[in-house]
Amino acid sequence: MTTHPLWSFESLVAAAGATASGSPAGPMTGFSIDTRTIEPGDVFIALKDQRDGHDFVSAAFAKGAAAAIVSDTYAAKPGDGALIRTADTLLALESIGRAARARLATDARVIAVTGSVGKTTTKEMLRLAFQALGPTHASEKSYNNHWGVPLTLARMPATTRYAIFEIGMNHAGEITPLTGMVRPHVALITTVENAHIENFANEEGIADAKAEIFTGLEPSGTALINLDNRHAARLIASARTRHVHITGITKDQQPADAIAKFAVDDVVALAACQMTATASQGEVIRAGHRGTLPFSIGTVGLHMVMNALFVTAALDATGAATPAGLAALAAFSPPPGRGSRTRLLLNGGGEILLIDESYNANPASMRAALSVLPSLPRTAYPRRIAVLGDMLELGPESPALHAGLQDAIDATGVDLLFAAGPNMQHLYEQVPAARRGAWAASSADLEPHLLAMLQPGDVVMVKGSNGSKMGRLVAAIEAKWVRTTPAETGPAE
Ligand SMILES: Nc1ncnc2c1ncn2[C@@H]1O[C@H](COP(=O)(O)OP(=O)(O)OP(=O)(O)O)[C@@H](O)[C@H]1O
Ligand SMILES: [Mg+2]
Repeated sequence: MTTHPLWSFESLVAAAGATASGSPAGPMTGFSIDTRTIEPGDVFIALKDQRDGHDFVSAAFAKGAAAAIVSDTYAAKPGDGALIRTADTLLALESIGRAARARLATDARVIAVTGSVGKTTTKEMLRLAFQALGPTHASEKSYNNHWGVPLTLARMPATTRYAIFEIGMNHAGEITPLTGMVRPHVALITTVENAHIENFANEEGIADAKAEIFTGLEPSGTALINLDNRHAARLIASARTRHVHITGITKDQQPADAIAKFAVDDVVALAACQMTATASQGEVIRAGHRGTLPFSIGTVGLHMVMNALFVTAALDATGAATPAGLAALAAFSPPPGRGSRTRLLLNGGGEILLIDESYNANPASMRAALSVLPSLPRTAYPRRIAVLGDMLELGPESPALHAGLQDAIDATGVDLLFAAGPNMQHLYEQVPAARRGAWAASSADLEPHLLAMLQPGDVVMVKGSNGSKMGRLVAAIEAKWVRTTPAETGPAE
């Protein structure tokens, strides 16, 4: 948490376009919309979301809020401190966010990340890389929506040199206003997949909604596009209309071939790559540069390598010291629930490897997570167990998309499948009986069956949408077996 004042009271009131009563008890060092996590010195913003934040203003002041941004109609209570009154608190937050962006130095660089999967992972990799080069500010967790993006902007210190924003969407039209606030110099789309498909007619619609991120690009900004994605040409065409520099990212193609095929301005490609049980290493080749750059990331999987290529391109596009930034990725470890690995001992001896992918899932990230299993040698881990929960928000295609994971189960040599939820049942019933561990309606019901079956030498990968609550199985395994190594986890979410 920053300890320097983010704003003077007068400048904040002006930025919010609001009127003020009282004066803050101390310096304003942050912003909060949630009294469960508020810190002393934060400005509390009473948003109307699932609950009305105005019910928590007193609690915010009791916990040391420096001021509160409230609606004109809010009736002040005894004990309230400085109040900043406005017609609409969300609009005020957006105005503060825009003012925070406007006051950055002209040589500061802003990067915006969207995509169907991998946003938070890539954002955290970017944070690590740019942090090595100068004062860096980045979104917390997956704060990527209509309040998360302006809140991240409002929290941005004026001295920020590199700012990194995660931007998400569930519907067409949501990214345009957010990227308009962020005004990135570099905008990237990790990948386009059939996540949130229930709100779209088809995947092309998803691609177009992601491409909205380019509408906020600064003049002479750079669009980073995944050339290995089936919608690459569509994204490139969209970026072209903005007259920006376009860099293609590829792990599957040679730079010269990719430039010829896609007519992009630049290419960052993978020259070589090896995986160990806990790390991915390789070399990056960039069009127009001699030689290659080495990289190493403390996590496994080609999808993670792809994210590192995006980081390389972002470093290049901002004119930063690319080799030094890329070298910082060696310290990367996945955030909790996104591929973190733990070795655990059974009381009687013998080890299992637990891969925690429980934070979220869609067909693309399921395949990506399963794809790391073959890199674990059978000699150390003879049995591969996938514990999969329902992927949510997939619309009418959901049963087919679940059953369609069969090829990935086969290709990655999964020996035993445990499944939870009505959607995963479609996959479960399709695998050969010898490879069925157990199915249950919920993760809670699956728990005893799973725990009874685990044995030393198992690698256990747990994954599902957050709403499928597969994290409880991770917790149950960790409670039964004893951790032998520190969890290989990175920053929170
Ligand atoms: N480039 C990628 N392609 C496919 N899967 C990825 C990629 N990067 C990370 N993943 C995996 O996808 C899952 C979700 O990752 P992450 O949290 O970074 O996505 P997100 O886009 O931020 O999700 P959300 O929309 O919930 O914020 C993790 O299990 C992670 O290991
Ligand atoms: Mg995220």
